[in-house]
This record gives sequence, C-alpha cells and structure tokens, in this order.
Amino acid sequence: MEGIFTSFTLSWVTFLLAKHPEIQQSVYEEIVNKLGKDRVPTADDVPKLPMIRAVLKETLRLFPVLPGNGRVTQEDLIVGGYLIPKGTQLALCHYATSYDEENFPMANEFQPERWLRKDHMDRVDNFGSIPFGYGIRSCIGKRIAELEIHLALIQLLQNFEIKISSKTKPVRAKTHGLLTPGDSINVKFANRK
Ligand code: HEM
Repeated sequence: MEGIFTSFTLSWVTFLLAKHPEIQQSVYEEIVNKLGKDRVPTADDVPKLPMIRAVLKETLRLFPVLPGNGRVTQEDLIVGGYLIPKGTQLALCHYATSYDEENFPMANEFQPERWLRKDHMDRVDNFGSIPFGYGIRSCIGKRIAELEIHLALIQLLQNFEIKISSKTKPVRAKTHGLLTPGDSINVKFANRK
C-alpha cells in the first residue's frame, strides 16, 4: 500500500520536472555542484540539496496522495468562534487548503522555490499543506518515504534528463479515496552520458 504512495509521488515529480525544464535544470545544477554527477547519494547528502526537498514538498502540495484527513476531538474546542464539542468527527480536506491562494500565492503553479528558507531563522512551515498529517498519529513512514524519494530522484537526475515526449498528455488527478494520476504519465528519459 505505502509503495503506491511513494510511486505515485515519484511519477508526479517526473511529470512536473518534464514540464518545467528550467526548474529541473536548477535542481540538476545543485546536484552537480554539491554532490557531483556520479556519486551515489546517501542520507547525509540530502540536507545539502534544498531544491530536491523543495521539489518533493511542492509535488505533495499539488498532488497529496491522501487528499484528506480526519480527527475526533478529544476535548471541547473553540475554533474561529465556533464551539466544537468533545467527540465531534472533523474532516479536513488539505487538498483544498493546498490550493488556497491565501496559503499559497499562485497556488496552481509549480514553484518549489516557495519552500526554500531564506536563512536558517526563516522556517517555511505552512499548515495549508500537510501531506503526511500532523501530530501523534501523523505518518510513521514520513522519513523513510521522503528519503526514498529524495535518493531516487537525485539518481534519476544524475543519469537522465526528464523530458516531455509526443506521448505526454495533460494528466489530472483523480480521487478514489487516494488521489491518483487520472491517466498514465508518459515522459522521456534522455541519457545524460
Ligand atoms: C509519499 C508517501 C506517503 C504519504 C504522502 C503518506 C501520508 C500519510 C498520511 C496523510 C497519514 C495519516 C496521518 C494523520 O492522520 O495525521 C499516514 C499514516 C500512516 N502512514 Fe503514511 N504516507 C506515505 C508513505 C508511507 C510509508 C512509506 C509508510 C511505511 C513505511 C507509511 C506508513 C504509515 C502508517 C503506519 C500510518 C498510520 C499512522 C497512525 O495511524 O498512527 N506511510 N500516511
């Protein structure tokens, strides 16, 4: 099951990078400068590559595999002037908040740079996008899923330029509970070597 989460996400990443060659180029240059063209990346390398992390966050903002989440309130809460009694079932559609212009200006655009910290003091957490949930019941696989995708993506980009091809068609997301690609994602991997 969780393999579907990471493979859908990685498919969307290739699709988005194929459609945004200038962003792909800047991610590739960061890899070449900080890591090199050939060195197999490890977990220790990921913090040196903020663009890779930003690309994943932005992809999960646009295509969160789990588009919604829910909680049962454990105590009476007042939120925005409304009393929500203990025991209420709350549904949260973070797919909707991810596309809200108030949370993310130009929300329909793929702009990984929006996740980059300007300096170490400036954290860009944004609760409009919580693809792994939050709190004590958040995704237990988050770290491993992120690491897997980061490492796979770095190696893909070291070896291939990801391009659109004549088979690349617009693909929208579809929801079956999970948010999945609504059609097959076709891109071309052009060997860099
Ligand atoms: C892109 C990859 C993934 C995404 C977007 C994702 C997302 C989520 C979300 C939204 C939740 C619910 C969190 C909440 O209610 O706050 C969740 C729960 C969970 N995920 Fe993931 N997940 C991913 C990959 C994985 C992987 C690789 C594993 C296992 C190795 C995993 C294991 C779990 C488990 C066990 C829970 C239930 C945690 C609990 O209820 O306490 N996930 N995930």
